Amino acid sequence: MSHIRGRFQKAADELVVKYTSSLPFDWRLYRHDINGSIAHAGMLAKQGIISAEEAEVIINGLVSVREEIEQGIFQFKLELEDIHMAIEARLLELVGKVAGKLHTARSRNDQVALDMCLYVKEAIVNTLTGIRQLQRALISLAYENKSVVLPGYTHLQPAQPVLLSHHLLAYFEMLQRDIERFKDSLRRTDVMPLGSGALAGVTYNIDREFLARELGFSQITSNSIDAVSDRDFVIEYGAAASLCMMHLSRLAEEIILWSGAEFNFIELDEAYATGSSLMPQKKNPDVAELARGKAGRVYGRLVALLVMMKGLPLAYNRDMQEDKEGLFDTVETLLSTLEVFSNMIKTIKVKVENMERVVSRGYLLATDLADYLVSKGETFRNAHSIVARLVSYAIEKEKLFSELSLSEFKRFSPLFGEDAKSITVASSVALRDTIGGTAPKQVEKALAAAKKMIG
Ligand code: ARG
Repeated sequence: MSHIRGRFQKAADELVVKYTSSLPFDWRLYRHDINGSIAHAGMLAKQGIISAEEAEVIINGLVSVREEIEQGIFQFKLELEDIHMAIEARLLELVGKVAGKLHTARSRNDQVALDMCLYVKEAIVNTLTGIRQLQRALISLAYENKSVVLPGYTHLQPAQPVLLSHHLLAYFEMLQRDIERFKDSLRRTDVMPLGSGALAGVTYNIDREFLARELGFSQITSNSIDAVSDRDFVIEYGAAASLCMMHLSRLAEEIILWSGAEFNFIELDEAYATGSSLMPQKKNPDVAELARGKAGRVYGRLVALLVMMKGLPLAYNRDMQEDKEGLFDTVETLLSTLEVFSNMIKTIKVKVENMERVVSRGYLLATDLADYLVSKGETFRNAHSIVARLVSYAIEKEKLFSELSLSEFKRFSPLFGEDAKSITVASSVALRDTIGGTAPKQVEKALAAAKKMIG
């Protein structure tokens, strides 16, 4: 557009046009940009900066531009640099010279800051919905398998029996923290920058409170220099998204392990697995693997944003255009991962017998035997080493605890009595009846609380 070449006589170099244009990706801001412009035009008219008729022509024109974009007939011209210029240029074609009044009391710097705020606010709302959906899927899988016992692991070694529902609720908790993080960041994103001008404010009698109300913001920024050069809210989204992807990646890793032949704890629906082009027997958990891989990509975007910002003097610098692809990619990656995970979780078939087999084979009741000795007066440290020796003995004899006789038990401690034999997986789980523990009573309560939370 001629007016942004301003004092220049030369047209921009073709390569430079291509290099500097953000249109190939920032078209995603079109809805927010148009909403911002409609509010701005309305405010200019209300304040008598432009006439009501001019505002009406501009607003109708903007609505037409939006329709053209949504119908796919809008011409995106690279040389128009960015979505803001592209929309204004088309407005000029549609409504004529009056289009030039829209940018009164506004700079692209506060305009793009506004668009980014609006985009991130919407992304947060969609993210919250996506996380809730996944929480819902986890809760229903937990209810379906309420009393199934899973070998709980530490160091990836079978440790103690836990309820599968308890294990799934652990992910519910992580996701709940994610929800809180996104909600918290929403408070800081919900601050309207428009009216900051290029950096110093504007000379017109604008009404920023009106703009905030029109655009659904609860606050307005209080420093124009900060307002045009702040991208904290973009980085915060990236940070919260990174944590959330880390949680999803851990869940992915468990799904991958559990669906492998060695664990064989779950069966993934065929719709969420793929075959191998070479090995006919394969059923690969690609969705989970990709989610695990995409976590790295989201972290990369976050680091890129932090590094891009760290050296920038106030206020706006063109470097900041680089915030867009990272943000868009992060939002799209997180939302699609949440959605595909919710659907995948719903289709998981739990192989109860296989989980139970590991629970009964792996000496997972060793801690319970030590606790038993403590109840008979032994110190925990001694009880621990007695049971450790008992485990070595059982391994050597290739016997499970349940296959040892009382006299064999007594060889390790005279405190063992007949009642030691009544320690079972069920009693082990039931005894962990503290708040946050895996006892069915506790898990029942936690499930009910979680269900209530997701509404
Ligand atoms: N495309 C630019 C960006 O994304 C818009 C702001 C441009 N402002 C400017 N003064 N060149 O950051």
